Amino acid sequence: MSYKSVAIDGPAGAGKSTLARKLAEKLGFLYVDTGAIYRTVALAVLRAGIDPADEAGVSALLGGLDLKMAYGGDGVQRMYLAGEDVSTAIREHRVSGFASRVSAIPAVRAFLLDVQRKLAREGNVVMDGRDIGTVVLPQADVKIFLTAAPEARARRRLLELEQRGQSADYETVLRDIKDRDYKDEHRPIAPLKRAADAALLDTTNLNLEQSLEALLSLVKEKFE
Ligand code: DC
Repeated sequence: MSYKSVAIDGPAGAGKSTLARKLAEKLGFLYVDTGAIYRTVALAVLRAGIDPADEAGVSALLGGLDLKMAYGGDGVQRMYLAGEDVSTAIREHRVSGFASRVSAIPAVRAFLLDVQRKLAREGNVVMDGRDIGTVVLPQADVKIFLTAAPEARARRRLLELEQRGQSADYETVLRDIKDRDYKDEHRPIAPLKRAADAALLDTTNLNLEQSLEALLSLVKEKFE
C-alpha cells in the first residue's frame, strides 16, 4: 500500500507548524515537524560544546547521536535526546540560531533525509520544513509553500513570546527572522525555496482560521 503525503514548506513564523498540525488532525494523518528534528541535533551540538561552524566536529557527533521521536497520547510529537524529553528545550532562542547553522551542514542533512523519508514510507503524513517538497518528498501528493511578510511573522512571534511571559522587542525579533530567512535561503544545500509545483499560500493578511480554510481548500482540490 502506498501512503499519502502533504509537504508544507516555508520560512519561520509563517504559521506552518500550527497549520500543518491542524491539517493533519483533519485528514487523520501523522504530523511530522522536521524543524524539531533539526533542533534536536542542534541541541546535541550545543550541549557537546561543538562550534556549529565545525563541520567535522558536528559530523563526528552524528554517529553516536541517540535521537528519538515519539507521539504522546495527545498526538503531539515529542523529541528525545539520550532518553531525555527535550521538546521544550529545543524551542529556546539560542537553539534556533544553532539549528539554522547546523542544518546547513551536508552530513546533517544526509543523516536526517533517511529519517524523514522513512516516516513517509510508514504512514500518511503531513510533513513541514524547508525542503520537504523539493528534496525530502519530491513525489508528495500535495505541496504547499506557506509564507507571510517578515513584519507579519515578527508580530506573531512577539505575541507568542508575550503569551509565554517572555519579553522581546519587535526590532530584534524582526532582525532575527530576516537573518534566519537569509541563512535558510542562501545555504548551498537544500535551500528554502518554493518547489515549481507547490501551491503558494501567503498568510500575511489572513488570521489562523482563514489560513486553515485556505489550506484545506488547496488540499481538497488536490485530493479530489
Ligand atoms: O521550523 P524551525 O524553525 O523549527 O526549524 C529550525 C531550523 O531547522 C531552521 O532554521 C531551518 C532548519 N530546517 C531545515 O533546514 N530543513 C527542514 N526541513 C526543517 C528545518
